[in-house]
Amino acid sequence: MSHDRLLRALKREPVDATPVWLMRQAGRYLPEYRKLREQAGSFLDLCQNPELACEVTLQPLRRFPLDGAILFSDILTIPEAMGLGLHFVAGEGPHFHHPVRTPDEIAKLRVPNIEESLGYVPAAVRLIRRELDGKTPLIGFAGSPWTLATYMVEGGPSKNYQHIKALMYNAPDAMHQLLDILARSVAAYLNAQIAAGAQAVQIFDTWGGVLTPAAYREFSLAYMQRIVEQLDDAPDGTKVPVILFTKGGGPWLEAMAATGCDALGLDWTINIDEARERVGDKVALQGNLDPAMLYAKPEIIRDNVADVLKRFGNHPGHVFNLGHGVTPQVNPDHVAALVDAVHELSAR
Ligand code: CP3
Repeated sequence: MSHDRLLRALKREPVDATPVWLMRQAGRYLPEYRKLREQAGSFLDLCQNPELACEVTLQPLRRFPLDGAILFSDILTIPEAMGLGLHFVAGEGPHFHHPVRTPDEIAKLRVPNIEESLGYVPAAVRLIRRELDGKTPLIGFAGSPWTLATYMVEGGPSKNYQHIKALMYNAPDAMHQLLDILARSVAAYLNAQIAAGAQAVQIFDTWGGVLTPAAYREFSLAYMQRIVEQLDDAPDGTKVPVILFTKGGGPWLEAMAATGCDALGLDWTINIDEARERVGDKVALQGNLDPAMLYAKPEIIRDNVADVLKRFGNHPGHVFNLGHGVTPQVNPDHVAALVDAVHELSAR
């Protein structure tokens, strides 16, 4: 039953071994990705071409016996479709030509028509599902409204979140208007991925952890909850599990688990046994090895995989993952060591 380990674990059903997939399992640490990227052009060109997005999605699955595939795309496709002009600056990450900073600029935004402006994403999902042929489940994803808003308002990556926090504190109504339009866009976008065949979805709230507890609930969690409530079932009528991942969300796990999501993604700043004690059997847990552990030697990686497995214990409801994405400097042999260790050490 290796092909449905991931979906079973997300539903907290028994499995023959703990399933494992990794955030950013496709990408620059793989030489085959770097080669294709050189031939194909920009990162956005890869995302917007369903054949190439499919190929990159499958690359890590050819190397490692991963239990899940994740759609190759980006969270910033939505603001790109809203007309903000996404581009990537080498060494600096994503930037927008037209950030939105004022209530007037926010009032002009519209929920994008998914088929017209983001049709390449469901097209990639359909192609990947066909290629996977039922062997490995496919995870779709989107950014949280708050995390998308940080890039849209700051215009790129940020250290202090000066512009978006000023907006949030000075003009909360405009901030809520922006988050409302993003929540409706993300729900429509994830539903298009589900209709096309995504079998689980993850909401990446990469920057929820920069908020105060009160602001997290009001400006990030409330909107993720709305999305959870608006998600459709799969075309075959089954419920599609949804994973919420807030980096730095350790203090708020109980509130996250109360949204109706199926699983919580944990970063590496909390022990998974403590997280499990706090949320009980309410949700599955995904995580939570320090991504920097992949810089260590394979035998050290194995010891630390054993520690996470032991802390979680022999209960249903664990999906092994890193606490954040694989970084470009990682040696693919170390990823192989991690994946093998998870399966070998957890085999029932
Ligand atoms: O996990 C996977 O393998 C699926 C692919 C995926 C990418 N981005 C590919 C990518 C996913 C799930 C994302 C989500 C994403 N994108 C997030 C949330 C997850 C997280 O990491 O916290 C965020 C914040 C973004 C925005 C973004 N896109 C950033 C910060 C960067 C890195 C910029 C850089 O130069 O380091 C990107 C680009 C990006 N997204 C790359 C990949 C493989 C690198 C593209 C390249 O240069 O070839």
